[in-house]
Amino acid sequence: MNKYLIAFAVYASVACANVFGQDIDQEIESKIEVILNRLTLEEKVKMCHAQSKFSSAGVERLGIPEIWMSDGPHGVRAEIEWDSWNYAGWTNDSCTAFPALTCLAATFNPELSYKYGLAVGEEARYRKKDILLGPGVNIYRTPLNGRNFEYMGEDPHLASVMCVPYIKGVQTNGVAACVKHYVLNNQEVWRSHINVQLSDRALHEIYLPAFKAAVEEGDVWSIMGAYNKYNGQHTSHHDVLINDILKGDWGFDGVVVTDWGSAHDTKEAALNGLDIEMGTGTDGLTSSTENAYDYYYLAKPFLEMIKSGEIDESVVDDKVRRILRLMYRTNMDTKRPHGRKGNKEHFDVAREVAQEGIVLLKNHKAFFPLDAETTKTIAVIGENATRMMTLGGGSSELKTIHEISPLEGIQKQFSKANIIHSMGYASGASAYGRVIPSKLNANKLKKEAVEVAKQADIVLFVGGLNKNHEQDCENGDRLGLNLPFGQDELLDEIMAVNKNTAVILVSGNAVAMPWQNKAKAIVQAWYLGSETGHALADVISGDVNPSGKLPFTFPVKLEDNGAHAFDELSYPGDGNDQVYKEDILVGYRWHDTKKIKPLYEFGFGLSYSSFSISGASSDQKAYKAGDVIKVDVEIKNTSKVLGAEVVQVYVHDEDASLMRPEKELKAFTKVKLEGGETQTVQLEIPASALAFYDEKINDWNLETGKYSLMIGTSSRDIKETIEIEIK
Ligand code: BGC
Repeated sequence: MNKYLIAFAVYASVACANVFGQDIDQEIESKIEVILNRLTLEEKVKMCHAQSKFSSAGVERLGIPEIWMSDGPHGVRAEIEWDSWNYAGWTNDSCTAFPALTCLAATFNPELSYKYGLAVGEEARYRKKDILLGPGVNIYRTPLNGRNFEYMGEDPHLASVMCVPYIKGVQTNGVAACVKHYVLNNQEVWRSHINVQLSDRALHEIYLPAFKAAVEEGDVWSIMGAYNKYNGQHTSHHDVLINDILKGDWGFDGVVVTDWGSAHDTKEAALNGLDIEMGTGTDGLTSSTENAYDYYYLAKPFLEMIKSGEIDESVVDDKVRRILRLMYRTNMDTKRPHGRKGNKEHFDVAREVAQEGIVLLKNHKAFFPLDAETTKTIAVIGENATRMMTLGGGSSELKTIHEISPLEGIQKQFSKANIIHSMGYASGASAYGRVIPSKLNANKLKKEAVEVAKQADIVLFVGGLNKNHEQDCENGDRLGLNLPFGQDELLDEIMAVNKNTAVILVSGNAVAMPWQNKAKAIVQAWYLGSETGHALADVISGDVNPSGKLPFTFPVKLEDNGAHAFDELSYPGDGNDQVYKEDILVGYRWHDTKKIKPLYEFGFGLSYSSFSISGASSDQKAYKAGDVIKVDVEIKNTSKVLGAEVVQVYVHDEDASLMRPEKELKAFTKVKLEGGETQTVQLEIPASALAFYDEKINDWNLETGKYSLMIGTSSRDIKETIEIEIK
């Protein structure tokens, strides 16, 4: 067959795509075989590794395109140079910055997740990307993890439900989502080599479900390995994780991409399911030099092993098949839409996600909402009132078209107020994994802030963490749970001179709050992207009624978190190994089972409305495997204002033959109600979701017996309980 026939094969299979539905897949598969037969061994190997920082090679003579990738996950990253990590300096690569995934998770709203995915996917498509490196679904195990802000919280059900629509939204554009980092990359300290050990039960019940949902329900087209090891083998080429579980049990037919520089061995990479190797330098580090790509594990060394017969050619064929399949779904799909970026609709999506994700944690005597017409003096204190948070944090850094700061948003919304501002503290900067302390005088900043606080009727303290090294940032963890840069002391002094102080926390992680009792109100405001200030002002002025819920627990102190309740082997490990000693009791599962009261629990968040829940009932009293449990519950907005509440159903196994968590989230739904309105909502739980992972049979086990379904508005605010039985 000549090159024109190949080009036609490429075209023809695509042309049939929308007409024949399921048949096309088979047609594409046969086209893939046609192409595969035309490729030389060298060309096939070339497709399995990077040719630049963010692309892998096509086959020029056959017109097979290159694959272009981009971070991810909160917007499409600015262009990077071919061979270095420097920005390329393009002027057309700015984007809409969407809120961080913690905020998306906090919306508890899967429809918004679809909108988010669709919008960020459109931007990726417009920027000619074939793979968007996200979403991240690693479970929030410790509040110190520098990358929690890129993930979807501590609960596997929440992360599963929220990641699937994001993936579908992205992929609607003919852009592959790349769910990451598979798996157990739950901290940044020693991420490149730490060898994680945990029970099979914890692996299957806690850490794998979101990835499984991404594959089985989201039909994700690519997945990124992680840096760390699991049971002695690097996760990016792991026999059990990739061959057995991902490609075996879950039937994943897409492409496994390394994390950048996470491949370590040619034979393992070849045989254990890695399809595309990215980011490795010749020295095994991620700082590559020119032409390093030829020496990647899946480059010349791979070719030589195939030529010598040590590795069978069918191994590379399988990889290339997967890569071509991804191409037929993306850059060889001539019908894919063209994308768009920086349009009003995208900023609106960013704002809507931000509005719905903001969590109101405390609101003493209805401190919020503040009257938008107020003429009072409002002191806005804190570095995060003006700091750009789309910068820093590592690979998720964005070059955004605009970023409205909290101060700007507040000034605009409260235009009649007298707004005064003081920085209060200075965090400095970071470079190449180093902290560069600020040269500003901390005492002077504090004094100035206290003076400003004295003059004000109201203080809005906008602090928290930032995207510097050892804050919410890749490649390092936080050093402690408390607020950094002297903010706790500063808050004490401010609250001593002004009792009307509210704290707005900008962070992707839980923090300790020694000043919690004294704060009049507390808002968890995440990293909100382009529309930060607008969304924040919308909520604190009452234009938008808060409805976000915490996707992870805020412990009172670090030791109250399960991962930190043991020795250093549990966290951060001994430098080589790490054992997840809290096992399946991650997050609220630990707090509830061990009866350790959190500061703020998973699923918690206040509203300006009030709600009541009553009349919970299930459609049957007894179920068997394969059934779906239907729970009806009546929810009423008992206030006068429109608001939204998240109805959450937790399950407790009453007759368990082994230890099970006190409760586990199995269903939730967000309901919007006018003042005084009542609705009956129905939540569905497949009976199979009540099973536990049984290490004796290496499979899920649904035990017969009694179970309680606990219905509430947070993991601790349970309003109704119903008993059911599994027969
Ligand atoms: C990160 C990935 C990211 C990749 C490319 C790695 O350091 O862990 O999440 O997608 O770099 O920037």
